[in-house]
Amino acid sequence: MKVEALPIVPGNYQLPSYEEARESFSWSDVESVFSWSMTGKMNAAYEAIDRHALSFRKNKVALYYRDENRSESYTFFDMMKNSNKAANVLTQYGNVEKGDRVFVFMPRTPELYFTILGAVKSGAIVGPLFEAFMEGAVKDRLEDSDAKVLVTTPELMERVPYDQLPALEHIFLVGDGIEEEGKFLDLNKRMNEASTSFEPVWMEKTDGLLLHYTSGSTGKPKGVLHVHQAMVQHYQTAKWVLDLQEEDIYWCTADPGWVTGTVYGIFGPWLNGVTNVIVGGRFKPENWYKVIASLGVTVWYSAPTAFRMLMGAGDALVKEHDLSSLRHVLSVGEPLNPEVVRWGMKVFNKRIHDTWWMTETGSQLICNYPSMPIKPGSMGKPIPGVEAAIVDDQGNVLPPNRMGNLAIKRGWPSMMHTIWNNEAKYESYFMPGDWYVSGDSAYMDEEGYFWFQGRIDDVIMTSGERVGPFEVESKLVEHPAVAEAGVIGKPDPVRGEIIKAFIALREGYEVTDELSEEIRQFVKKGLAAHAAPREIEFKDKLPKTRSGKIMRRVLKAWELDLPTGDLSTMED
Ligand code: WTA
Repeated sequence: MKVEALPIVPGNYQLPSYEEARESFSWSDVESVFSWSMTGKMNAAYEAIDRHALSFRKNKVALYYRDENRSESYTFFDMMKNSNKAANVLTQYGNVEKGDRVFVFMPRTPELYFTILGAVKSGAIVGPLFEAFMEGAVKDRLEDSDAKVLVTTPELMERVPYDQLPALEHIFLVGDGIEEEGKFLDLNKRMNEASTSFEPVWMEKTDGLLLHYTSGSTGKPKGVLHVHQAMVQHYQTAKWVLDLQEEDIYWCTADPGWVTGTVYGIFGPWLNGVTNVIVGGRFKPENWYKVIASLGVTVWYSAPTAFRMLMGAGDALVKEHDLSSLRHVLSVGEPLNPEVVRWGMKVFNKRIHDTWWMTETGSQLICNYPSMPIKPGSMGKPIPGVEAAIVDDQGNVLPPNRMGNLAIKRGWPSMMHTIWNNEAKYESYFMPGDWYVSGDSAYMDEEGYFWFQGRIDDVIMTSGERVGPFEVESKLVEHPAVAEAGVIGKPDPVRGEIIKAFIALREGYEVTDELSEEIRQFVKKGLAAHAAPREIEFKDKLPKTRSGKIMRRVLKAWELDLPTGDLSTMED
């Protein structure tokens, strides 16, 4: 399939020419922007906040916070004081020491961000949890990591089985009317009394910063450990890929429970000294547009699932808001359907830039830059300083246009340091030739653009043809009746597998046999006969993770009556 690249829009980009940057770039050159390159004293929270608070950016807004009840702003100097208070409370009353695991389990509020930054300043490894996690998910993570301190709310406390977690010494509660007792302490009260000065605990490059639990298709979630030196890539990718510049108002919609919400919701923007927007509460299309219009958001980083929901909410709603401040829009988390890119061009007059990376990789690796022509449906090209390839199961590099394992040459700064308590699992990611193997299936075209096909386990073999579920799903959502689609291979005695599609319809459409057949024909004509789903099942909603990924393995398990595996990251 030949896809025309959308040309570059002229602009003042941080990355002048992709090709040139690839030639001359070295990660070690980036280090000179950080104060530790001169002082030898390293702490990612110091670099993200204090460095700016002690500079000309002192009174610049670091954080605009918005939810239904609160509308607040904090300068870099405010952020320094508040995170220092949190660090003082955590060390004095939580006995937090270098390397201890401090978990946060609470909604997005300014206090969550003060706590995360304060914990990092106190030398802790921060484990962020989605507020929607249920008891089992909370317990698994706190137990596996031997968390010493938890910061949560009285409401969420019901889901923390603390009497079964012997390592958990202190629990800070954030809320009103908290009664302190035993290991329970009132965070706000203690913070009000705390000093605004704190000398950060200085770290080594390979000391722990973040512990993000992520689920594979089977077994328990694994703890991906990231270290302080990852800031080098957080900084550089936010500069080049997010294209963050001094005057930007940047909004990343992700929760810190997901790696996007820490790396690009905290470190990426603040390491660049940029104004960051954080919105609490639930997703509502109307509110989202209001945030952009009222704060004048210029750079916006979100996910395909959110864009598809906005698309479903209709174009009329977009027109009710002045979104002309937007300069650059990006997406991550799952494949970005070309249809969504076209919609973005129509309603925002912006090309949504896809970015590919994983919890394990710690930062963006394959991206569409603003300074590069983008091809809708492709995740882009490896960033300068990163080498990617498609390899076979032995680690041999495959030629263009062949589907295989998406692999990255070892040696980028934000790579996970290990899997917590599971070195063997960490080692299992690598193949001969020093390739990190992502578990994604993809191909590269002649021009070096990468095209996602599915997780390796999701690729379908039907009548001898390899079909990536994403291609079929993308075609399906082009049909006007289809809101979302998930595609799986279903074992079939004749064809090996047949393609089965699960579809959620858009508002106003009804399930009929005619519609089902029409959708089938639509894929057949638009893609290929062998790619048309032989079976279609309509659902009100598709199973998705909190970061918006369609859970094909759950669809498959339902279909085949198999165990669904770990569901802790599934949306309600
Ligand atoms: C998928 C997300 C296609 C992919 C920061 C990857 C994507 C997994 C994209 C990692 C993209 C992420 N196009 N697929 N742009 N971005 N994925 O750990 O399967 O939540 O391996 O990290 O999401 O998901 P994770």
